[in-house]
Amino acid sequence: MNLTELNRIATAMVAPGKGILAADESSGTIKKRFDAIGVESTEGNRRDYREMLFRSREAMSQCISGVILYDETIWQDAKDGTPLVKLIEQSGAIPGIKVDEGTQALPMCPGELVTVGLDKLAERLKKYYERGARFAKWRAVIDIGSGIPSMTAIGVNAHALARYAALCQAAQIVPIVEPEVLMDGDHDIDRCYEVTTRVLNKTFQELRVQRVALEGMVLKPNMAISGKKCAKQAPVEEVAEKTIRLLKACVPAAVPGIAFLSGGQSDEEATAHLNAMHKLGPLPWGLTFSYGRALQAAPQKAWSGKAENVAAGQSAFSHRARMNGLASKGEWQS
Ligand code: 13P
Repeated sequence: MNLTELNRIATAMVAPGKGILAADESSGTIKKRFDAIGVESTEGNRRDYREMLFRSREAMSQCISGVILYDETIWQDAKDGTPLVKLIEQSGAIPGIKVDEGTQALPMCPGELVTVGLDKLAERLKKYYERGARFAKWRAVIDIGSGIPSMTAIGVNAHALARYAALCQAAQIVPIVEPEVLMDGDHDIDRCYEVTTRVLNKTFQELRVQRVALEGMVLKPNMAISGKKCAKQAPVEEVAEKTIRLLKACVPAAVPGIAFLSGGQSDEEATAHLNAMHKLGPLPWGLTFSYGRALQAAPQKAWSGKAENVAAGQSAFSHRARMNGLASKGEWQS
């Protein structure tokens, strides 16, 4: 393992003004997104849609540091035969790959999930590296509800995240470690704060036990935020203040960067929250976005599967990328 190189990539992924495009929706998830805009989820349509994003020159070269791909996409070529991975590299962004294989019910823990995909991961990472991937992503899902999460669910998911991260570093790939505490419930921001604290502490404990080099990883957490169905929605300043307090308490300064998921926040909320956090600096790590929905909802709508809408889709994507790029420096204005 070359830690200097891992650190260089991790640092580039969170460079000020730039962030990560999470375009790694599984076939099931992208079908849901396409259903919402009335587009059939065929391999061709998925390719055309992602090619549209990766050919958004301005956004990709100025605001996007890296792109997380799904397995299907990393092997796909653009219409003119150029591998999509090459399009990303040519724009100056780093290709990455989602390597977890989704979630399964966790036995003995009703309502809880464990992320799977460790079997044969070392071999898969080798192939992805050869194809150009320089970072990877693994997402653990922790739900808040009555009596959950259990320490069992937190523990097994943290263990798997650390196993994955160690395998990545051994394959010279920067792991994005993503323990997502969902914002789907009616819990308030303080409950999210408390659960996220437990999850991050356990995750870093496992990372240490399994000898993951913190200098060669990126953390992808949720923000401390009110559940979507909570009657009392915490304002932007409170989300920013509590998230930074929580991260400072749990994330060692050796970690080069933190890149948030958007998790179901509206486009503008996701931007406003990141921006407000940068007003609380200086911060010990790079802090930016790794958004899926908050970067793609607008371009998906503008494109709607029609070739004549490609320019409109690219312009919608560029706008969101630019706004989040500004937020990653605390320079965004509503
Ligand atoms: P969202 O920003 O839509 O939450 O997606 C980010 C991601 O990669 C989730 O794993």
